[in-house]
Amino acid sequence: MAALTDIILTGIKPTGTPHIGNYVAALKPAIELSKSNKTYVFIADLHALNIIRDPKVIRQHTYEIAALMIAMGLNLENTVFFKQSDIVQTYQLTTLLMNVTPKGLMNRAHSYKASVDKNVAAGQDEDAGINMGLYTYPILMTADILLYNADAVPVGADQKQHVEFARDIAGYFNNLYGDVFKLPAPLIGEDTGIIPGLDGRKMSKSYDNIIPLFAPEAELKKKIMRIITDSKSPEEPKDPETSTIFQLYKHFATDAEIQELRGRFIAGGMGYGTAKTILFDKINSVLSQPRQEYMRLMANTKELDKILADGAALARPVAEQTFERVRKAMLG
Ligand code: TRP
Repeated sequence: MAALTDIILTGIKPTGTPHIGNYVAALKPAIELSKSNKTYVFIADLHALNIIRDPKVIRQHTYEIAALMIAMGLNLENTVFFKQSDIVQTYQLTTLLMNVTPKGLMNRAHSYKASVDKNVAAGQDEDAGINMGLYTYPILMTADILLYNADAVPVGADQKQHVEFARDIAGYFNNLYGDVFKLPAPLIGEDTGIIPGLDGRKMSKSYDNIIPLFAPEAELKKKIMRIITDSKSPEEPKDPETSTIFQLYKHFATDAEIQELRGRFIAGGMGYGTAKTILFDKINSVLSQPRQEYMRLMANTKELDKILADGAALARPVAEQTFERVRKAMLG
């Protein structure tokens, strides 16, 4: 667990309209940490560039994430909340770090390897469609982490390797140039498990099975009623652990409510229709106020610009200091 004096930092990539799966796995943990720790949270728009080619789309997703984080309770008092691309030292440090990063380390990155495997399986050249943004993605992420002297980086399991790379790269740098960087470590929170989507597979835009976080109430209800279940009758006992309904409920209800619904699943006598209504009522009651705040912020993007600019003004001096240390160490 992170100590209270630790510097905690995390980034969120604006590649899509956030859904319940993103919220539970990535956004909620950062919001929770911000309530009792000093944190840096930024929107990693530079990391979206290797996939999204339309600036309007990146801006839109950036606003959505900013509005969502604030609406869901990110503590702006404790948090330096900003946009990655507003800090020029990010680009600068990335260039310098290239020189101490072994190419072989990048070859081992899971996300790059997955793209290569896909190409090979499709009988294509192994680097088909792979740009250097994807290949050097972990170096950019290392720059993010090292600029703000982060100790702990809360990430999902899929990003753990990237944080380990940041630690490796900081170590290579320190070996060559002295003690310039703190060594960061991943902070893997309580395992949220796989958040299932409407069809029971992992909730993901690519499976078209998502529940948007801030859908209008009627749409939220419609989606939840469409969750696929098995064909057990209302009387039969049901397994909460394999039920999408229960697995989603867990992330919004209190412990007592979770125990109660678990009991009703196991006892039998409750149909899936009823369980879905319970799930809808719960999610809707948790999200209805934040939804209004989200809508308000999305209609006032100037306010979001101001919040992110204020955050950048706090992040910048820290980044400048770190970068100056690195520049001196490398270039004298
Ligand atoms: N790569 C992360 C993701 O896709 C986002 C990210 C960018 C990040 N920079 C970071 C996370 C620095 C933690 C620390 O989710």
